[in-house]
Amino acid sequence: MRAIDVVKPGGPEMLQTVETATPRPGTGEVLIQVAAAGVNRPDVLQRMGLYPVPPDASPLPGLEVAGTIIEVGEGVSTELIGQDVCALCNGGGYAQYVAVAAGQVLPTPTGWSMVEAAGIPETYFTVWANVYGHGRLRKGERLLVHGGTSGIGVTAIAVAKAFGSIVVTTAGSTDKCEFCRQRGADLAVDYKEDDFVAKTREHFDTDHPIDVVLDMVGGDYVPRNLSLLRDRGRHVTIAFLRGNRCELDLAHVLRRRLVLTGSTLRPRSAQEKADIASGLREHVWPLLDTRTIEPVVDSTYPLQDAAEAHRRMESSQHVGKIILEV
Ligand SMILES: NC(=O)c1ccc[n+]([C@@H]2O[C@H](COP(=O)([O-])OP(=O)(O)OC[C@H]3O[C@@H](n4cnc5c(N)ncnc54)[C@H](OP(=O)(O)O)[C@@H]3O)[C@@H](O)[C@H]2O)c1
Repeated sequence: MRAIDVVKPGGPEMLQTVETATPRPGTGEVLIQVAAAGVNRPDVLQRMGLYPVPPDASPLPGLEVAGTIIEVGEGVSTELIGQDVCALCNGGGYAQYVAVAAGQVLPTPTGWSMVEAAGIPETYFTVWANVYGHGRLRKGERLLVHGGTSGIGVTAIAVAKAFGSIVVTTAGSTDKCEFCRQRGADLAVDYKEDDFVAKTREHFDTDHPIDVVLDMVGGDYVPRNLSLLRDRGRHVTIAFLRGNRCELDLAHVLRRRLVLTGSTLRPRSAQEKADIASGLREHVWPLLDTRTIEPVVDSTYPLQDAAEAHRRMESSQHVGKIILEV
């Protein structure tokens, strides 16, 4: 089959088309003929050599796809053959075929194209596990999510609004902030122009207005995020684009009984990923099937132009998902 591999760690030009063996579905797996694959920031980190591939995962990049099941492994019902699905992959998504644990596969939502569906799994699994699992966001509570136009950001805003929360977000331009407001954000702060802490306090007229922070920025953002949290607020780290070190005043944690937590999706067991998939299917899929939540596709590229897709992501000009068509 045709696939994209990282020939050696480095820039986007290191993504090259290769001919490689078509995977076979193992026990509990399905084989998907890929129609489209989502591009995610962790793929960029993997390409740079900064995201080690877990030992049991495909060395090829690609964490999510949409396509058709064409074969099943032992223990998986043959009734799945022919179904259109989207799937969270343990790597290997930038390819014509990928083998995935059946528990990580979900039906393509009604009315969503393959391109639209390919952009679902990585961000929805991440948001569900972190905002609702670790962060325990409830109806009526306030969520702060940075990077409002990122793949993760657009998903977090849409899901949190659909579940009745109030959403504050940050983004790097006036246009991006306007997009976030159109997607339902109650407050969108251009962090290059304004201090998001001051703006959030002003908006809610209180010093500690936020219940949950979903943070991908890290570094000096963490003490600023914590300063906004209410009593029993939860701070969930999913990445640290500005670095993994910071200085904290632990008195905030102690006085307001804050919870600092975080997680990463990829090393979780197949069972944990299947549990997240079940939660999504029950609670979030009805919102996708009715298009209560709409997809946000920034751009599409042919599979062989994966390097261009990575350049677009690294430019941070994109709004929503970047997708490869296979
Ligand atoms: N823990 C997990 O399980 C997990 C899973 C998936 C993704 N992630 C992480 O979540 C993040 C978002 O992923 P994605 O695929 O949605 O990526 P993405 O679409 O590229 O989003 C990254 C966003 O971060 C903002 N940004 C970039 N550098 C920044 C900086 N130095 N300071 C502040 N903001 C900055 C950019 O928006 P502006 O231009 O508006 O600044 C950009 O839109 C990534 O860091 C990724 O590694 C974690």
